[in-house]
Amino acid sequence: MGFSEATHARAREIIARYPAGRERSALLPLLHLVQSEEGHVTPAGVQFCAEQLGLTKAQVSAVATFYTMYKRKPTGDWLVSVCTNTMCNVLGGQAVYDALSEHLGVGHDETTEDGTITLEHAECLAACDYGPVMTVNYDFFDNVDPDIALNLVERLRAGERPQPTRGARLCTLKEMSLQLAGFADEREGAVADGPPGASTLRGVRLAQENGITVAGFDPGTPIGKPAERPAGPEKANAGAATAAGVASNEPARDASPSGQPSEPRQRNLKEAK
Ligand code: FES
Repeated sequence: MGFSEATHARAREIIARYPAGRERSALLPLLHLVQSEEGHVTPAGVQFCAEQLGLTKAQVSAVATFYTMYKRKPTGDWLVSVCTNTMCNVLGGQAVYDALSEHLGVGHDETTEDGTITLEHAECLAACDYGPVMTVNYDFFDNVDPDIALNLVERLRAGERPQPTRGARLCTLKEMSLQLAGFADEREGAVADGPPGASTLRGVRLAQENGITVAGFDPGTPIGKPAERPAGPEKANAGAATAAGVASNEPARDASPSGQPSEPRQRNLKEAK
């Protein structure tokens, strides 16, 4: 598809933010930009980015497929990400994910039949102190359980925009992609911030109550260059490994501590003769 004039103008604005000769650095926001128009990064979006930046489509695709925030297939207005990493998991994150998966009839990275909701497992969302957490288009809902999560997705399907626990009001994935491309949402309540919550500050409060402070740090302390630092045990070991690699004319990783090629390597060498 052809992209709108607004997207072309925004692409020019994004690229102009980078120094001459470094235009390719604009690729990440440009990918968010094409996603903001099409809902995911389509082949046309890849081509658009390549043409704007003088890259090949292979180079653009390599980046687009590396980051999970760039969606490669149609995605719902509401991307529901449930953290099932260690802390959230022990607090019930997997149960939340399983309840949503069964209720919505979709698995990881799949979209409901009505096209409204995409569900995904998420790695640690950096909010372990509020676990189990889930996000909708990257806005947080803290301390969820299966009932809270099911109620939330039903409200989304009914056209509501429930208020996240922290931060701004909910945006659709396209709206959020435009913000991630670097264009602030000017609408009221679209951008919000607040003080850290009690759970986040718990460690600081405990330290204060018990008189615990961190060691002082003088930012003026010079940091020696690598060549000036004394060789530690790691360096000595690395040296031994390198010497072994040179002696056997093989990569050092194949050497045993004795300096001889490892057993599998010896076997390979015999078979090769
Ligand atoms: S483990 Fe879930 S936010 Fe860190």
